[in-house]
This record gives sequence, structure tokens and C-alpha cells, in this order.
Amino acid sequence: MSVDDRFTKENLQPRPDAPLGTRNEIVTGPVSDWADDFSHLEPEWAADPYRIQDDLRERCPIAHTGRFGGGWLPTRYEDVAAVAYDTEAFSSRSIIMGNFRPPREAAPIGGSPPISSDPPFHHDARRLLLPAFTKRAVSRREEATRAYCHALIDAFEGRREVDAAGEYAQHIPVRVIADMLGFPLEDGPRFRAFIENSLEGVNRPPEQRRAGMELLFDYLIAQVRDHVERPRDDLTTYLIEAELHGQKLTPQHVAGTMALLLIAGVDTTWSAIGASLWHLATNPADRERLVAEPGLLPTAMEEFLRAYAPVTMARLVKHDMQWRGVPMKQEDWVLLSFPAANRDPAQFERAGEVLIDREVNRHVAFGLGIHRCVGSHLARMELRVALEVWLERLPRFTLADPDAVTWSAGQVRGPRALPLLLS
Ligand code: HEM
Repeated sequence: MSVDDRFTKENLQPRPDAPLGTRNEIVTGPVSDWADDFSHLEPEWAADPYRIQDDLRERCPIAHTGRFGGGWLPTRYEDVAAVAYDTEAFSSRSIIMGNFRPPREAAPIGGSPPISSDPPFHHDARRLLLPAFTKRAVSRREEATRAYCHALIDAFEGRREVDAAGEYAQHIPVRVIADMLGFPLEDGPRFRAFIENSLEGVNRPPEQRRAGMELLFDYLIAQVRDHVERPRDDLTTYLIEAELHGQKLTPQHVAGTMALLLIAGVDTTWSAIGASLWHLATNPADRERLVAEPGLLPTAMEEFLRAYAPVTMARLVKHDMQWRGVPMKQEDWVLLSFPAANRDPAQFERAGEVLIDREVNRHVAFGLGIHRCVGSHLARMELRVALEVWLERLPRFTLADPDAVTWSAGQVRGPRALPLLLS
């Protein structure tokens, strides 16, 4: 099969005889008891997951829910770490907890390698990505990222109120990943809809979600075909030409990894930049200190990542077992809350406080174990540059209206509207 033949819509659609996976009834509405009915999709969780998780850690450290066909929520650091390291008992076949489980035959590759892959496939799929995300490779993008942050702020000229989430934080990772993948830079706004469908639309009817995924894959196929015709020095051409075990990647692997990079790289970093600006808008002493001592930013940034860790992942239980006192069943979800682990007082002193000069800070915002974030150098560069430029250009800001701030629900949490008053 020539390279061109791999990337047809037919090749990327599931075969008619392919197993479908399982669905369960969608349950929404207020939670009766977070210990036995938790849902990360309800507004109470989106507004303040920390209070809920802190309470659970005290009274029921591995909470349960019957929603999503059954799942567990460990809130202690040591339990989160144990799940993340144990790929024998927990699969990454799906890492978004919802009402659909992909077929078991999907393992060990999954729909978006390497994040959806289990050993032994995971190792090789991950290795393919590493060269593009080294510290050195990332540093070559810093200048362009900084110039872009300045351009975003230039566009605020003459305004007193701006939406730091929608008009600043969001655009930075979109631009960086579009550039890395070699997508048209003006397509940025379209990515937002793809991402929202994957990460926040979990409780929507399956037909609606499928339609959203189809739009994403149609977009990716168009990009791939364009790159097949005109190869370039970017990640898309790299993936099209890459080989594993002496063979070109399957079209599903190429498109799945592209979708992963688009989704994993954007909402996460957008959330981290937005949450950091939200903290500084609501804590003037920290803001003033960082403006006066810019050298403290790298330390403060790690504390923002600890305290407002944006990413929660999921796993599927591989077989029935008694796990640390709870009866886990095959195909139960485990919601792997790195944010809860980061606020465990058994692991961090003054865990519930945000200390921008915290010296020892072994947080797990980027995960633990074999799936630890491939993009952590890139994310840190974007977060640092975004905050440096903002604080240099707009050192004085407060919330325009606390009630107008909104936070995303689901597994990636960050401000989605953050109106700030500039002075
Ligand atoms: C502040 C921003 C970010 C945070 C907090 C974050 C967090 C995470 C976490 C917690 C994982 C582990 C997933 C798991 O255990 O299942 C992960 C994996 C991953 N992240 Fe990030 N991420 C961020 C930004 C990025 C960026 C910018 C990229 C690339 C464009 C990226 C690419 C990936 C990839 C490819 C994986 C899968 C690694 C594997 O399975 O081996 N991330 N990320």
C-alpha cells in the first residue's frame, strides 16, 4: 500500500464487523453523596473540586460511583501513584471516563497512542514522539511564542477589561501546536470545538459525540492528505513517514496521535495559564511579589501547577480484585486525580495553601509512571513565557466580576471565561 492509500476516510472508519464496545445509561443531576455517587461532570465539582476531594480523603479515600457504568476515585497521593504505576491491573484503553467503553480488543494500542496504549506497545509509540518534545527542541520555539504573547497583548490596546482565558491563555497553546503539526494557523478556533466535544461533552448523546469526532477526523485526514502531497518539516509529515518495527504506522495510529497532540496540548496548557492568572488576580500580594521579583516565577509556576493541576486521567480495571479495601470489578473506571494527589497533606506541607516560594515541590501535575506527560517541557515553556509577558506588560489586574468567571467541567479543569480589569 502506498503512503497515499493509507489515509482514506474508509480506512479510518471502524470496519462494519469491528466490535463496538459497551455503552451504559447516562445519569446526570445532583450528586446524593460524593462518597458513593461522585460525578466530575456536575457544576459543584467544576466550581470547587478541592473541597470535595479534601472531604473524601478524610472520610472515604477511595470513593465510588454507580454513574458511568461504575467507577472509583482515589484521593490519597499514595493510591493515585499506585494506580498510575500499575499497568498490570489498570489499562489506559480509555482515559476519558464516560458512558462508553471501547472494546477490549482495542488494547494495547487504543485510539490515540501512546496515551491510550498499554505495554508493550506503549513504549515504542511514546518513543516516536520524544524527539519533538525535548527541552532543546522546545527552546527553539520560545522566541516565536514570546512574540505571539506580545501580539495578543498589543491587541488589547485601549481596553480596560479583557477575557484572559478566551483572549489570551487559549490562543497560546493553539498557536504552538498548530505550528508544530503544520496546520493552518487561522484554523485555531476550530480546534476549540473538537476539544470541547472530546473532553467536556462526555454526557452528551453518543450520536452527537460521534458526529463531533467525525468532524475532527475529517479535518485531520484533510491535513494529512495535504502533507502527503506537500511534505514539510513538521510533526504531521514526521508521523506520516515514521516507522515502527520496520513498517509505516497505520492510518489510525497517525490520526489518533495527531488528535491526541491537538487535544492534550491545548486545553491543559490553556487551563494552567488561566488558573495561574486567576490566582494572581485574586491574590494581589502574590501578584505584586512576582512583579517585583520576576526571578521567583519558575518556583511560583510549579506551585500553580501543583495547586491547580489541570489534568485528571482515567483507567479501566483489568480484572475483578480487592484493591486496598475496595471491591473493584473488571471494566470499572478509576478516575486518577493528580489534582487530589497534589493536595494530600500526607505528601505536602500546608497542602491546601498556595505558597509561591514553595521550595520542595514534587507535584504530579504531569502524571506518574510510563504515561508521564511527553509535553511537559513544552507546557512549562508556554506557561512561563505567557506569565512573564503578561506580568511585564500588564502588572496590575483584578477580577472584573467574580461571578462571571467560569471553569470547565470534566477531566481538564481551568477557567473558560476570566474577565479581568486592567489598571
Ligand atoms: C500544563 C499542561 C499539561 C499538563 C498538566 C499535562 C498533563 C499530563 C498528564 C497528567 C499526563 C499523563 C496521562 C496519563 O497518565 O494517562 C499527560 C500525558 C501526555 N501529555 Fe500532557 N500535559 C500538559 C501539556 C501537554 C502538551 C503541551 C503536550 C503536547 C503537545 C502534551 C502531550 C502529552 C502526551 C503525548 C501524553 C501521553 C504520554 C504517554 O502516554 O506516554 N501534554 N499529560
